[in-house]
Amino acid sequence: MSTTLTLRRPDDWHLHLRDGAMLKGVLPETARHFARAIIMPNLVPPVVKSSDAAAYRDRIMAALPDGMSFEPLMTLYLTEDTDADDVAAAHASGLVKAVKLYPAGATTNSASGVRDFDKVRGVLERMAEIGLPLCVHGEVTDNDIDIFDREAVFIDRVLDPIRRKTPGLRVVMEHITTQDGVEYAASGGDDLGATITTHHLVINRNDILVGGIKPHYYCLPVAKREEHRLALRKAATSGDPTYFLGTDSAPHVDALKEHACGCAGCFTATNTLSILAEVFEQEDALGRLEAFTSLNGPRFYGLPVNEDTITLTKGDPVTYPEKLDTGDGPVTVFDPKMPLHWRVT
Ligand code: DOR
Ligand code: ZN
Repeated sequence: MSTTLTLRRPDDWHLHLRDGAMLKGVLPETARHFARAIIMPNLVPPVVKSSDAAAYRDRIMAALPDGMSFEPLMTLYLTEDTDADDVAAAHASGLVKAVKLYPAGATTNSASGVRDFDKVRGVLERMAEIGLPLCVHGEVTDNDIDIFDREAVFIDRVLDPIRRKTPGLRVVMEHITTQDGVEYAASGGDDLGATITTHHLVINRNDILVGGIKPHYYCLPVAKREEHRLALRKAATSGDPTYFLGTDSAPHVDALKEHACGCAGCFTATNTLSILAEVFEQEDALGRLEAFTSLNGPRFYGLPVNEDTITLTKGDPVTYPEKLDTGDGPVTVFDPKMPLHWRVT
């Protein structure tokens, strides 16, 4: 049996790096293994204009330790006031690789997101014209919709109508968590892709709620029932180019996770590749890991695949710190609740 696995260097197509001391703390965890990442714009205040994205990119590069290389792929946060000309200029200059749609109130720092989808119609049409992808947080926020149904309802009520009204719009369904998401993504042809996180391949809703509430497994979209986790594993390990890795690694300090109103987010940057190798091995799909981590994403975004490689070696269980110390405080590293045997060497 093979005990080493060489892959083209992976990219992370959905990542939260935050800012300031947290950025400095978490960036090496990703840059150690990943060449590029799509950087989420939900800072406070959000990254709305091209000038915000340029300044944020500079802060990321300034936080990168000497000797590490990493390319942040910047995004803009879509608001009802977004200027289509500014978006088009940011795309033309190569600065911005996607625009992020947060339904207002759906998740962390989404208050400036979109309430009335008709108000962003002009921007979406412009994006379809110029071929700039829209990354979508796919959950409705209606109070009368159960949180476990929010993704499926979003597909019917929001995403499908937007796609019908905007032919040619390239869409990434971010962090899909349901069989419904898996199926809809597969139905969309080359203009539709979907990212899948590491943690949604590992946990279901029982992991959050059975035997005491586990705040470090709480994220949005929330993990669903087991049949959905199995559908995600099947999709991720299928080799189908529709699906690619977006870790949604989302650091929050422990004080804000272990709280009466705990923040959403799992921090997986530190051990993602070891977890993924374990999952793909369990699914007898190690030969398709590279497609998920390193090939399908660049293909969707029309970017070259990375030329260099990483090697994973199988051996004794991997050790990694339980917490990452950042200048803002400790951040708990995602616990996959299984021994991991593949380490990046
Ligand atoms: O769990 C999540 N955390 N989901 C999101 O959509 C946002 C993210 C964050 O920024 O913390
Ligand atoms: Zn996210």
